[in-house]
Amino acid sequence: MIPQSKALYEIPLITPKSMTRVVAGCLFGRPHGDNLCMFSQPDLSFLPDSPCYLNGEIGPLREARISVLDRGFIFGDGVYEVVPVYGGRPFRLEQHLARLSRSLDEIRIPNPHDAAGWRALIEQLVQANAAHQGREARDIHQFVYLQISRGVAPRDHAMPAGLAPTVFAMVQPLKPVPAAQRVSGVTCVSADDFRWEKAHIKSTSLLGAVLSRQISADVGATETVMFRQGFLSEASSSNVWVVVQGKVLGPPKDHLVLEGIRYGLMAELCQRQGLPFELRRISRAEVMAADELLLSSATKEVLAITTLDGRPVGHGPLAGKPGPIYAQLYEAYQLAKQAS
Ligand code: PDD
Repeated sequence: MIPQSKALYEIPLITPKSMTRVVAGCLFGRPHGDNLCMFSQPDLSFLPDSPCYLNGEIGPLREARISVLDRGFIFGDGVYEVVPVYGGRPFRLEQHLARLSRSLDEIRIPNPHDAAGWRALIEQLVQANAAHQGREARDIHQFVYLQISRGVAPRDHAMPAGLAPTVFAMVQPLKPVPAAQRVSGVTCVSADDFRWEKAHIKSTSLLGAVLSRQISADVGATETVMFRQGFLSEASSSNVWVVVQGKVLGPPKDHLVLEGIRYGLMAELCQRQGLPFELRRISRAEVMAADELLLSSATKEVLAITTLDGRPVGHGPLAGKPGPIYAQLYEAYQLAKQAS
């Protein structure tokens, strides 16, 4: 294993002025300290200085450094998780850690921690971030971002053996969905799903998702609802639910969608509310004619789509407004948070 806590290796660097040796792979660098990590130090003072975790150390986010040869940077060769933390309590952590483990297995990175190790790391970081804000963790809502990349190696597509993964975690404030969006729902646009065919892996290779999301961002919409060969897959960073005659439908859990942690939660909430729930292929025509459309994700929770491609979602007096199933599921979601 290559040790990660120290400099990884030295790269001889020839500059026009002089021959210099720059130590690469340092972790928390200071702008003018011994750990010179960048050729010229940009002004990073706009970045948060909240505590983050990098390869066994906790330090200011603004000062965290990884090598440019990290495969996460070079290839997007890594996986991630986004875990909401309400009042200091990670929500559905067990399920997030299980998905992380599945994603790591899929891309053949050894899991750097067991569930207890992850839980301890997350709790420590959540407390440290609350303290950094001068708050108690129980009084604030945050989310944890975890990322594991394959590690640092000379560039080669094939997976090098024996690399120590780069393990990064940060905590950010969990901003609630704006009240106006809760009341009125959100606008979305649709597009072809041009991403790869392993969407079930929560991969940091997110260019497809970025390009997809930008289609909606360009027109001031909240999400891009994607279709693959005429069937609903998901949105760029959310799952999509279709309500037809009181029944909640979702696309099958296969390699074409990320199985959001809210997949299981929606099934539970529907069961508790006595709502029929089914996972099956859903055609574009069914989506366009739905009574209600919903988004779900760690940060959006459950959110009503009220306009799709410029047309109001739903029928009659409820057209273009969040519907009754949304209201029921949103309420049930809040209860699930309180009970966790
Ligand atoms: N995105 N589908 C995609 C493509 C996603 O990126 C996400 C989450 C989801 C919903 O998954 P979950 O319910 O586990 O949050 C579905 C996260 C929030 C993100 O990338 O920031």
